[in-house]
Amino acid sequence: MSIVSGPEAHEEDEFRFHTGRQAPTGVQDAIEFVDVHKAFGRNKILRGLNMGIPEGRISMILGPSGTGKSVCIKHMVGLLYPDQGDVIVHGQSVPNMHDDELFEMRKRFGVLFQDGALFGSMNLYDNVAFPLRQHTDKGEDEIAEIVNRRLREVGLANANDKMPNELSGGMRKRAGFARALVLDPDIVLFDEPDSGLDPVRTALLCELIQEIHEENGGTYVVITHDIMSARRVAEHISVLWRGRIVESGPAEQLFESDNPFVRQFLSGDSQGPLGME
Ligand SMILES: Nc1ncnc2c1ncn2[C@@H]1O[C@H](COP(=O)(O)OP(=O)(O)OP(=O)(O)O)[C@@H](O)[C@H]1O
Ligand SMILES: [Mg+2]
Repeated sequence: MSIVSGPEAHEEDEFRFHTGRQAPTGVQDAIEFVDVHKAFGRNKILRGLNMGIPEGRISMILGPSGTGKSVCIKHMVGLLYPDQGDVIVHGQSVPNMHDDELFEMRKRFGVLFQDGALFGSMNLYDNVAFPLRQHTDKGEDEIAEIVNRRLREVGLANANDKMPNELSGGMRKRAGFARALVLDPDIVLFDEPDSGLDPVRTALLCELIQEIHEENGGTYVVITHDIMSARRVAEHISVLWRGRIVESGPAEQLFESDNPFVRQFLSGDSQGPLGME
């Protein structure tokens, strides 16, 4: 052991489990983070993040609470901008887009926010129809066909007239999922689709995500704390901690990783590098 002092020693220690290894996926990345730094005031959240999200797969971003997972999602759709570095979606730099380009890009994203984020004053049907009315010039007949199909797919065929406050948490999430799909997005982002659901509902939602992905294709990015969900649906996993990737790659490889942090996190073990900080 060498005796080093000063900030380098601290940094070396802090990132000693971060190999940053990105095991090859065999496909192109739909989304890339290139050396992204992002701070809020003095609070440094992303600290040189390099991350690739492979095209056409279900990817999961896993990491402890407060590591910046939601902040990552916001960078993908241009709701936040990096202080340094670049975020690239289908080869285009998001921070360098003009407003109209950003607007066009966002139409190709479906986003499922944590609580479904339904409009409280609109019934379920109008909530799901909203992006179609907002972003397309489709007539009401065509809209009805799409909305009813999506609601059927998520198991809410008979709930058209329900108001969001009449729905259970699980139903709200499924409704949010239906709404995220109506514009046939290339990329779907899910911020903790499983939070607040019981284990059975979580398993059902995971199945639904898989089924719909199988049917429609596209790049899915799922943020979760839930290791069971990751085991069930992840094809690709990125483990994020302290603003950088610890390791990423095909799910089966991450579950076999010998990295102590990855092992601890993916097994939910209390013993390991991640303490109560
Ligand atoms: N707009 C903002 N202004 C100031 N600080 C922010 C902002 N957004 C996020 N943060 C801070 O960035 C950090 C990371 O937040 P983020 O929501 O990305 O965490 P997370 O990994 O999604 O956590 P969780 O798993 O609990 O959802 C937190 O410390 C949060 O307080
Ligand atoms: Mg979050």
